[in-house]
Amino acid sequence: MEIFNTKKELRAYLDTKRNHLQIGLVPTMGALHEGHLSLIEEARKQADLVVCSIFVNPTQFNDPKDLEKYPRPIENDISLLESVGCDVLFLPSVEEIYPDPQEIWHIDLGHLDKIWEGLHRPGHFQGVTQVVYKLFQIVQPQIACFGQKDFQQIMVIQKMLEVKNLPVQLVICPIVREKNGLALSSRNVRLSTEGKKKASVLSTALRAVKKDFPNKPVHELTQIGSTKIESIEGIKLEYFAICETVSLEEATVISPDKNYVAIVVAWVEGVRLIDNMLL
Ligand code: PAF
Repeated sequence: MEIFNTKKELRAYLDTKRNHLQIGLVPTMGALHEGHLSLIEEARKQADLVVCSIFVNPTQFNDPKDLEKYPRPIENDISLLESVGCDVLFLPSVEEIYPDPQEIWHIDLGHLDKIWEGLHRPGHFQGVTQVVYKLFQIVQPQIACFGQKDFQQIMVIQKMLEVKNLPVQLVICPIVREKNGLALSSRNVRLSTEGKKKASVLSTALRAVKKDFPNKPVHELTQIGSTKIESIEGIKLEYFAICETVSLEEATVISPDKNYVAIVVAWVEGVRLIDNMLL
């Protein structure tokens, strides 16, 4: 695997390849797990040359302590990427991505960055689009793979592609789950065995709602999902909602010509867990 720390070197390398090879990008913040590796594997299927970026992006963190605490097991990440045949790792410094620390970024994402996760983390999706835009400009990939686990993030990036008119195709990769259904996340390491068991109710609730969709009205489905989660002691439900997939607006009735997703956030042992399922 080739490793580049600067835009200039990476661009020079990719420029020798892009005429005859399709480039696939997998943007990450490192601390890689099976979920990330599945993105690399998908990118390998759909592109000829796979670039993974590892960059803990400061502009998408609301809390400086979270940024500081963010795990950076880079040697392990490199071995994992090599084990799945990643071709190129882009590992820039903060100065390389943000040479001007005063840089201002704002993109109109409509209400997409103000609801659900955007409400909980103001400015987060502006930071995500800022860095993903830069990565797309540097790598100029034909495809970019993202995990469905961060569903709202994908919708936000899709909107950015439209606003900026960028010719990148987003590939949404399925959520990778533990045997008990718990969606893989870097945060799961902070859960005890008992906590992981409890947390599996998120996927149980999502599956139950999927099974009953579209035979029951939305408010009943939401009730089924919420009640299942709230019935487990030690879990605090933040939200459970059924939304239209593109706008992420909460559904009140189901319309046959639209697609829906159930989204959930709950706290277990002080860890905020997020999950979703297409219905
Ligand atoms: O999903 C992530 O890991 C990050 O939000 C991303 C897309 C790499 C941007 O920093």
